[in-house]
Amino acid sequence: MTFSLMPLPFAKNALAPHMSEQTLDFHHGKHHQTYVDALNKLIVGTPYTKAALEDIIRDTSENVDQGRIFNNAAQVWNHNFFWNCLTPAPAPVGRNLSQQLTKAFGSMDEFKARFKEMALTQFGSGWAWLVMDQGQLKITKTSNAENPLAVGQKALLTCDVWEHAYYLDYQNRRADMVQVFLDKLINWEFVARNLDSAPAHQAA
Ligand code: FE2
Repeated sequence: MTFSLMPLPFAKNALAPHMSEQTLDFHHGKHHQTYVDALNKLIVGTPYTKAALEDIIRDTSENVDQGRIFNNAAQVWNHNFFWNCLTPAPAPVGRNLSQQLTKAFGSMDEFKARFKEMALTQFGSGWAWLVMDQGQLKITKTSNAENPLAVGQKALLTCDVWEHAYYLDYQNRRADMVQVFLDKLINWEFVARNLDSAPAHQAA
């Protein structure tokens, strides 16, 4: 096996009641595991058995013949990244990150409102993102497995808006899940580290 399922960086019951153990059982233990297993099967006999996940994503993103490899590789990476965006005990938003978000979006509240709107207007399965794109902070959305890596952006934060991410806890209420994500679950220290390591980032 080339790739393995990244362990959750918190206990499976640690995000309850905002994200239940049952949701994580399915989302991490079944959905994420399935992407890992599918990727490992698809890359047998290809040079990708020795490649880094990020390189597989970049290499296959433009090639329709490799769509299945791209979809599964990107979904493995997206979920690894998503779990790192979550924490049961969010620290306050750091000073530099807060300043950068305020500069880009007007205020922290406006950042949250715009991120939420992006998450809600993603039609069907996909992801909402905060990215660094050529030195600028942007809020974006992608469909299905698509992600910022594939288009040369640096991901800073994501929210999974596939129904499998919230249906057990919130049924059809995606807005409620996204609001809880923004208010109760974001690992701002992880977001700040991503900002600090963004190649084009110029500290204020
Ligand atoms: Fe997911």
